[in-house]
Amino acid sequence: MVWMKKMTVNPVEKFSKLAKDEKIAWLAMHYFKDSRQGIQLLQTYWNNDEKLQKLHDEFIENTLSNFYMPFGIAPNFLINNHLYAVPMVIEESSVVAAAARSAKFWLPRGGFKAEVLSMVKNGQVHFMYHGDAEKLFQFFEQVKPKLISDVEPLTQKMKKRGGGVLDVVLVDKTSDLEDYFQLSATFDTCDAMGANFINSCLEQFAKTFRESARSFDLFTEAERDVQIVMSILSNYAPECLVRAEVSCPVSALNEEEALLPQEYARKFLRAVRIAEVAPNRAVTHNKGIMNGVDALVLATGNDFRAIEACVHAFAARDGHYKSLTHAAIEGEIFRFWIEIPLALGTVGGLTQLHPLVKLAHEILGNPSAEKLMELAAVAGLAQNFAAINALITSGIQKGHMKMHLLNILNQFNANEAEKGQMIDYFKNHTVTFAAVEEQLAQVRVTNILKIN
Ligand code: MEV
Repeated sequence: MVWMKKMTVNPVEKFSKLAKDEKIAWLAMHYFKDSRQGIQLLQTYWNNDEKLQKLHDEFIENTLSNFYMPFGIAPNFLINNHLYAVPMVIEESSVVAAAARSAKFWLPRGGFKAEVLSMVKNGQVHFMYHGDAEKLFQFFEQVKPKLISDVEPLTQKMKKRGGGVLDVVLVDKTSDLEDYFQLSATFDTCDAMGANFINSCLEQFAKTFRESARSFDLFTEAERDVQIVMSILSNYAPECLVRAEVSCPVSALNEEEALLPQEYARKFLRAVRIAEVAPNRAVTHNKGIMNGVDALVLATGNDFRAIEACVHAFAARDGHYKSLTHAAIEGEIFRFWIEIPLALGTVGGLTQLHPLVKLAHEILGNPSAEKLMELAAVAGLAQNFAAINALITSGIQKGHMKMHLLNILNQFNANEAEKGQMIDYFKNHTVTFAAVEEQLAQVRVTNILKIN
């Protein structure tokens, strides 16, 4: 092992201008415990295809290597009578298996139904105005047509695709913060997530607004000085809403033999009800939903941070954080559904750039943004169904640890033969870290004895 004496770390100048090797050398010198091993590790993950590596290098600044995540598939998703195989990018061992189980369960029961309720996105110009609010509203009415016409060069292409700016309104926020107002705009960005489009339009609104205010007759000198603070889309998109649902006769809910279908349905409803009233449960419940949503969002090259931020704000929209899914028994019918805001795109961004993202879109039949919203809502609902199913029957650990078994075995460097023996053994035994460690030790001793 090469143990280097670490140098004192001083701020580095113009780091982004260094070549990749130089960046790695600097990092190794200051931060790696074992420089050779660290450097080798980064290099192990480089792609031999130079063009492909360069593509990834250029996604962000200061790329040193690639970070692998599993790309898996959950097949048999019947959604609006169409069969999908859903690509999922996720590190958590049980998520794809759970999605696939849910899909298989609902396949003979009519599958999932999904529909987009609205696809409106929004953004704001946040500004300060010190003066008579009534005059500001008069000014806004006068300048509004110019706001719209000045963004024409930016909106032309989007309009051709059927989208564009839907409306702009002036909002008085002075009861929250002195002198604070917003120009709040709504947009249809068609199949694009549309962040660049929205932000460009907002920046132009801000420019037109501020410049026009300077020559508005009714304003005093102080009122003319509108102070733009920032222009930015809102990731809170409650009007970009999709709904997905499953339903079947209660009698068809015979998943777990230990529970009668009626009892199972009642217990299921209670579990959902708890997530509707108890925020501590709701957060975990919604986290499980996002296991499915995020995995598809990542696979399709969308911005999972934006989706996460929006979804949780939506879950707390009435001041009380609650479940995104709901369940009911109507007559003899069990219904389980989700309503979730998902501002997704299928053009722009990484969608055409990242080869695996492109493949994910191909697997899904190159869906429109609307279709992708439906698919993601279904992925969330399916994941939640699998989680609740496990929680109210066998408990979560049984399936979870079974899926985690290979990770534990890999930690102990188990070889393929040992893995086979261990998987066999744990078909009928409970997986815990300690149990795996003990059983593996036993398997290894037995194998040595057999050889000798
Ligand atoms: C684990 O990633 C997700 C669950 O905790 C979700 C849930 O509790 O509903 C299983």
